[in-house]
Amino acid sequence: MHILAWDNGIGPFGSGSLLEINYVLLAILAVANGQGPFTVPVLNGSMTITWMMTTGTNGPILQATVKSNSVAWIGIGWHMAGASGPENVDMYDVDFAIADFSGGSPPRVTDRKSNNNVNNGYSPPLLDTDPAIGGTNDITASSGVQDATTSTFSFTKLYNTGDARGDQSLQNGLQHVIIAHGNSNTFSYHGNVNRGHWMINFYTGANAPCMGC
Ligand code: HEM
Repeated sequence: MHILAWDNGIGPFGSGSLLEINYVLLAILAVANGQGPFTVPVLNGSMTITWMMTTGTNGPILQATVKSNSVAWIGIGWHMAGASGPENVDMYDVDFAIADFSGGSPPRVTDRKSNNNVNNGYSPPLLDTDPAIGGTNDITASSGVQDATTSTFSFTKLYNTGDARGDQSLQNGLQHVIIAHGNSNTFSYHGNVNRGHWMINFYTGANAPCMGC
């Protein structure tokens, strides 16, 4: 097979190749639009959140991947922008995406919401479609895989789904994000170490540790 490239023998396609120049141009355009991909290490680097923002006819679309150095269920969730008080540190009033590998790979990825009837939401998050929530499933695509040491899942969702009961719109500002992984593939309490917090702007990639969390 012939690849059209100016090959001077440096780099995967040769430095200065058409492929390489196109790749660099795409990367520059992506950064200029603030669309990522962005990666944030969390939980002392044992988990990562990577995402891109693309634009669709119904507004911005989140394409996110969460990876954990564990063989277990994994999840991510976010509060309202500017939330303070208990909402800023607890599992209360959170919009979750959770990957359950108990049936193997790919995992069952679900759109969930805190059970606000439990103090601080410290309980398994409910499906958005649960009658107690009364929302809708707004995860439009998902995938994931486990190997001997890691678990990874990806999901796609609008930044603003319109599901006021089940979802929190992603804001163009720092937003409180929580992550966790289990001790096994059975979706149950993560224990008091396998969970963490970060502040993330999913539009710009800006992020910071959550002070006071
Ligand atoms: C079966 C599901 C779950 C149960 C039963 C559960 C239960 C609890 C309980 C009892 C606590 C308080 C004790 C502690 O600090 O460890 C807690 C805290 C926490 N959970 Fe969960 N959890 C679940 C799922 C999740 C998920 C999916 C996430 C993130 C995506 C998460 C993130 C957190 C965080 C960040 C804290 C610390 C909150 C704080 O600093 O006040 N949990 N959880």
